Amino acid sequence: MSFDLILFGGTGDLTWRKLMPALFQAWRHHKLPAQGRILAVARDERSDEQYREFIRERFFEVEAAKQPSPQEFDRFSELLHYRRMDLSKASDYEGLKGWVEARGAKTVVLFLATSPHLFPQICQQLGAVGLNAPHVRVVLEKPLGHDLQSARDINRAVASAFTERQALRIDHYLGKPAVQNLAALRFGNALFEPLWRRESISNIQITLAESIGVGTRGDFYDRTGALRDMIQNHALQLLTMIAMEPPPSNDADAIRDEKLKVLKSLKPFTAETVVRDVVRGQYRAGTIDGEKVAGYLEEVKVPADSACETFVALRTEVQNWRWAGVPFYLRTGKRLAARDAQIVVNFRPVPHPIFPGAARANKLVIKLQPEDGLELHLMAAKGGLGPVGSGNEQLSPVSLDLDFDKAFPTERIGAYERLLLDALAGRLNLFVRSDEQEQAWQWVEPILHHWAQDHEGPRPYQAGSWGPPAASALVARDGHAWAEEQ
Ligand code: BG6
Repeated sequence: MSFDLILFGGTGDLTWRKLMPALFQAWRHHKLPAQGRILAVARDERSDEQYREFIRERFFEVEAAKQPSPQEFDRFSELLHYRRMDLSKASDYEGLKGWVEARGAKTVVLFLATSPHLFPQICQQLGAVGLNAPHVRVVLEKPLGHDLQSARDINRAVASAFTERQALRIDHYLGKPAVQNLAALRFGNALFEPLWRRESISNIQITLAESIGVGTRGDFYDRTGALRDMIQNHALQLLTMIAMEPPPSNDADAIRDEKLKVLKSLKPFTAETVVRDVVRGQYRAGTIDGEKVAGYLEEVKVPADSACETFVALRTEVQNWRWAGVPFYLRTGKRLAARDAQIVVNFRPVPHPIFPGAARANKLVIKLQPEDGLELHLMAAKGGLGPVGSGNEQLSPVSLDLDFDKAFPTERIGAYERLLLDALAGRLNLFVRSDEQEQAWQWVEPILHHWAQDHEGPRPYQAGSWGPPAASALVARDGHAWAEEQ
């Protein structure tokens, strides 16, 4: 299959940190279709050779590029081309169209890795010059809007040039192997389905914890905050994958229809429930891995009086027959104790304990980060059961661990690699549809509104902790505890 992949924002961070290393890995794994060109588009004047050099230098800083040998990089870089464009100029799009048409590739993927405020303009211009034929797809990187209205505006502008099936909205969490394994676990095995419901599950926790701070992205982050950056998209997408009904097929829309239903079933927030069920926090100086780190307000490009949240914990429910009454706790934050992304499905305890000692309920842990894997926590008799009173009749928790890197050592691919290959192949399952995205915005909006008027601001928490104590209280109120406190 011949393809042209065009990266708008070709010299930006996303391109050299994530997209180029992912493309390089795909090429190295012989997964990138053979007849391809990758065209980076940006403002400055550069030759193809200069652009290749620009990427080469940066590759050695990026761990994900897995350090190519010079020969390997040279061969890969033959795919790379560069074009200067002024994104506001119609004639530059005509020029781009000429470049594409001169070759007539079967598939053209336009990846918008620019600032999202440019998306409407770029899409309209692409449509105006006819770079929107059915073999053309456009990939949109988050953040897609900062509230419902702005998301709608972007979607409307995209829809003026591209059909829904041509518009691929990225949520890179959906590309993570653990998320696909979650779908496989639920819909490729019959084992869990009878248990996957309110009768057997007591609560579900989704934690996306990072130990890093905001780094050099202070200005972007301060306009965004953890709710928009991680909850509206990544955490809610994970929630849909956990809570959705089995789709009738593996077709993209069959899956996305089910995910949308989950989003529509989420309990809407009111002014009272935002206060009760949502905790926001902001990190203060602290210590992580033995190193002293600054507080959020001391970070570069962050206003000294910022009320931006770097932590969110919330409680919600999915209001349908399967999940009625089961709390779903979502939590994310920067500068937390560990980089740890996981979904914990806590089952109900045994109805009538017959063994002495504290009975622990079973739990299934789907690990996304730092490594992906599955753990099933069970109770077992350590040294065999002895007669009552002999001291060894107590049960101990054990876990069945599935390490996917060991199980499939050569087949693991990263999120962006997967999503880029899917975009080229036109597989839409792992992309977010506009209605899902807008529904997610609609659900977080009451929180945004409340915070905008609430002068209390975020609760401080120490870097290296698990967030403000109120986050533990939120869960404890229901008689539960976060995984690390259990
Ligand atoms: C991005 C957020 O979407 O996801 C970042 O903008 C965050 O703030 C990142 O650090 C986390 O992604 P990952 O794959 O490193 O968990």
